[in-house]
Amino acid sequence: MIYDASFFDKPIDRRNTACEKWDGLMAKEKRELNPMWVADMDFRCPNEVHEAMVRRAQHPVYGYTAQTDAADEAMLAFMERRHGITLTKEQQAMLPCVITGLKAGVCALTEVGDSIIVQPPVYGPFYASIRANDRIVLENPLICDGNGRYTMDFDGLEDCCKAGAKLMLLCSPHNPIGRAWTKEELTKLLEILARYNVALISDEIHEDFVFEPSRFVPILSLAEAEDAKIFSLTSASKSFNLAGLQQAILFTRNMELKEMVLSSMNRAGVVSGNIFGMVASEAAYQHGDAWLDGMLSYVKQGEMIAREELGKRLPKVIFTPLEATYLGWLDMRAYGYHNEELMKRTYDAGVAFTTGTFFGAEAGDGFLRINLACPHAQIIDAIIRLEQAING
Ligand SMILES: Cc1ncc(COP(=O)(O)O)c(C=O)c1O
Repeated sequence: MIYDASFFDKPIDRRNTACEKWDGLMAKEKRELNPMWVADMDFRCPNEVHEAMVRRAQHPVYGYTAQTDAADEAMLAFMERRHGITLTKEQQAMLPCVITGLKAGVCALTEVGDSIIVQPPVYGPFYASIRANDRIVLENPLICDGNGRYTMDFDGLEDCCKAGAKLMLLCSPHNPIGRAWTKEELTKLLEILARYNVALISDEIHEDFVFEPSRFVPILSLAEAEDAKIFSLTSASKSFNLAGLQQAILFTRNMELKEMVLSSMNRAGVVSGNIFGMVASEAAYQHGDAWLDGMLSYVKQGEMIAREELGKRLPKVIFTPLEATYLGWLDMRAYGYHNEELMKRTYDAGVAFTTGTFFGAEAGDGFLRINLACPHAQIIDAIIRLEQAING
């Protein structure tokens, strides 16, 4: 199978597949909008994954599942091959999804009423993982330059630590602002957290979407101590478009911490072991590189198309530089609308972006997020509709 632009360009009709992005939106709005919101892709998954799923589905018993050595080995080999990090079976645990890991981690590593650091604008469920468990959100907003590039506020981070934060939730690479944090930035962050004994959960679900010359730096490649209070979370679900299969992975070098998170999940009755999730992840990790490379190059072209269309049609939009993820962050503030009005206008024009305030009430006001993992024609259609929404 050749995974070139013609593979990704071919639209796939996802309607009536019980997908949130198309069918969920249709059920809510009672009409079709161009769905540029939820972060999954309008691409077929790798053929090798589909074939493995069909093979397994042909066996008519779908009983309780045991994680196999072959599945673990495929995942560990992928981490080594693609990200240069060597991890062991003991250092990983399977979870139903990354959000499970965030929530279980919050419960395991902090007490009710403790403060937890987030860096807005950031993926909305970071807030929910903290608040739903009666902990306090401590915001350390990212700093944005005039061109839409964001950096971390290390002084602000230190202030949060001094204020007594117990844990930080890091998004690396960072959704929605498209940064792939550098080794220098992450090293500095680790130094500050270590000084104040603040634990860290690094959500690395976007690790496979990093564009040259940027690089993904796994947090565990910088934090090698076995007693570091750090774990990372990732999943084949984002990288290979398998989110409906509900499988994710936790990595840590700290065995005590791993047991704490697993018992927190256990208390809530969360057990992993989805046969199709495991079969699909194994096939993706083993055979998915060509698809992944083809998809990344197609998404990069999509980003360039989006930039060109926005430059022509809405030149006052600031489109954040995309080092990582397939999610574009659009600063619409020059057009003077708050998010409620922005969303109303764009929905009326037939396109559904993710509202900026999903990523932080203040840091996201006046912003939209566009999902670029779709055929290029769909991106162009969305930007034409955005222009209509703004200019009438
Ligand atoms: C940063 C981040 N973390 C977690 C998730 C969700 O992961 P899961 O479906 O495995 O819970 C997403 C999905 O968009 C995300 O962007």
